[in-house]
Amino acid sequence: MTLPTINPTTTKAWEALQSHYETIKKTHLKDLFKQHPDRATALSIEWKDFYVDYSKNRIDETTKKLLLDLAREVKLDEAIQHYFDGNTINETENRAVLHTALRTPSTHQITIDGKNIISEVTSVKEKIKSFSHQVISGNLKGYTGKNFTDIVNIGIGGSDLGPAMITESLGYYKNHLNLHFISNVDGDHVHQNLKNLNPETTLFVVVSKTFSTQETISNATTARNWFTKNAPKEAVGNHFVAVSSNISNVTNFGIAEENIFPLWDWVGGRFSLWSAVGLSICLSIGYENFEALLAGAYEMDEHFKNTPFEENIPVILGMLSIWYNNFFNVESEAIIPYSQYLHRLPAYLQQGIMESNGKSIDRNGNSINYQTGTIIWGEPGTNAQHAFFQLIHQGTKLIPVEFIGFKHSLFGDQDHQNKLMANFFAQTEALMNGKTQEEVLQELNAINTSEKTLKKLVPFKVFAGNKPTTTILIDTLTPKSLGALVSMYEQRIFVQGIIWNIFSYDQWGVELGKQLASTILSEINSHEVKEHDSSTNALLQRYLKKSE
Ligand code: F6P
Repeated sequence: MTLPTINPTTTKAWEALQSHYETIKKTHLKDLFKQHPDRATALSIEWKDFYVDYSKNRIDETTKKLLLDLAREVKLDEAIQHYFDGNTINETENRAVLHTALRTPSTHQITIDGKNIISEVTSVKEKIKSFSHQVISGNLKGYTGKNFTDIVNIGIGGSDLGPAMITESLGYYKNHLNLHFISNVDGDHVHQNLKNLNPETTLFVVVSKTFSTQETISNATTARNWFTKNAPKEAVGNHFVAVSSNISNVTNFGIAEENIFPLWDWVGGRFSLWSAVGLSICLSIGYENFEALLAGAYEMDEHFKNTPFEENIPVILGMLSIWYNNFFNVESEAIIPYSQYLHRLPAYLQQGIMESNGKSIDRNGNSINYQTGTIIWGEPGTNAQHAFFQLIHQGTKLIPVEFIGFKHSLFGDQDHQNKLMANFFAQTEALMNGKTQEEVLQELNAINTSEKTLKKLVPFKVFAGNKPTTTILIDTLTPKSLGALVSMYEQRIFVQGIIWNIFSYDQWGVELGKQLASTILSEINSHEVKEHDSSTNALLQRYLKKSE
C-alpha cells in the first residue's frame, strides 16, 4: 500500500485557490475582522490545554474550505491511515514511518512483518527506565565507586537536536545531573566540553542510529581516548553506553551489547527523540517525565488521526503554510516561542521541517514545478523583537509568524509573566493592524512636531500591517504539553509533504556533501590535492600551506 501520488497543481481545488487568491490577496486583515465580528471564534481551535488562534491569517471561510478541499482531493485522509498503519510510506528507503508507535500505549498493537512492534518498544522502554533510575539514584556508579554527576550526549542531527531541545525546554524539571551535548566535528567543541569533566563521574551516551556518522564516531573516539588516558581501559564499559540500530558497529567500537539501547529502521533520525535517543532526556528529567512527554505526543497523534480537518490543528496549520508558500509565494516562516526555555525549538524544527520537506522530486519521480519546503527560523520573544522584528514589521518580505506562549510561568513571577505576555499579544496586534498615516500624524501632532519634521518623518513611521500570525496559547510548559506541541509540528510536516506529493522521510540531499568531504579529507591527510574546480583547488592549497 503506497501513498497517493497526485500532483496538487492538477486538482480542482488548486485552480480554485488560484483564482480565490486573486480576490483576497489585497484584502486587509483589519477589514476581515470588521466584516466578521465573530472571526476569532470561527477561526480558532480549543483542544485540551491548547488554544490555537489562526484568525489573524489572510484567509476567509472560502479560503479555508478550498484548502481543505485540496487536502481531500490529494487524499490526505488515506495517507494518514497508511502512515499510522505502518505501511511503507518512506518508499525511497523502503521503510515504514512509525515514530508514532513509540508513544502508543503498551496495550495497543502495531504489526510490521507479522511482529507486534509495541511489545519491542515496551521492553526497550523498561530498559531505559531501569537504567535512568539507577543512574539518577546513584545506584549505578562510576569505576571508582563515585556517583555520576555529568552526562555527555554525543550525537548529531536528530541524535542531538531532539534531546538537546527537550532537555533545555524542560530545564525546570531537571534533576541534579549536569548535561552536555557534543555534536560538531569541530574539535574545539569536544575539547571545550571535556576540559572541565571528571572521568570518574562522567557517563557518555553515544547516540547514532547508523553508528557510522563521521561527527559522532570522531567525537566518541576522542571522548574514549580522553577517558582511557585517565581511567583503566576496562572502565569504558561502565562509562559508555550507546543508542543505535547498528549493533555490530557499536560492539566494534568497544561498547558491550548489554549497554546498547536499540532503535529500529522505522524511526527516522529527526523524529527519534521518543525512542532510546531520548535516553539523555530520561537521565535529565527522570523517566516519569519522559512518559508524560510521550503521553502528550500520543494525545496530539490521536487528535490528528481522528478529528475532522476543519478542527484538526496540524491539518489547519499545514494548509495555512501551503496557502502562503504556494499562493502568496512566501519563502520563509518564523516560529517565535515566548519562553526562554524553548530557545532551541526553532533550531530543532529547522531540521524536522527543512530536512523533511526540502525536496524537488515528487512521489512519481518527476521534477516539481511548484514551491515546497519552507525556510524556518526564529528565536524566543521578547529577544527577537529587539533583533529581527523590524524586518517582519516594515521589510519588503511577507513572513507569516507563529507565536507560541504560555498562560502560566513556571517560577510564578506574575509581574514578569504579564510583561512577557503583553508583548506576545501586542506583537500579533501590531503586525495585523499596522499604523496608518493618520495615526502617525495624530501621534506626532500630539507632541507638537514641527510641520517640516512631520513631513519628513511620516512615511518612515507608517506600518502597512496585514502581516499574518498564528497564536498558540498553552496553559503551562509541562512535559505533556511539550510532547503535544512537538507532535503537532511533526504531523504538520506530514500534511505538507502529502500535499506537495513528496517523500518527507528520506534525506538524500545530505549525502553529496558527506561523500565529497571524505574525498577531500583523504587529500588533506595525504597532502595531495587532486582535480577540483579552480576555486576549491585554491582554497585547499591555501589550507594545506597554513597547516604546514
Ligand atoms: O543529517 C542527516 C542525518 O542522517 C539526520 O537525518 C540524522 O538525524 C543525522 O544525520 C544523524 O544520523 P545518525 O543518528 O545515524 O548518526
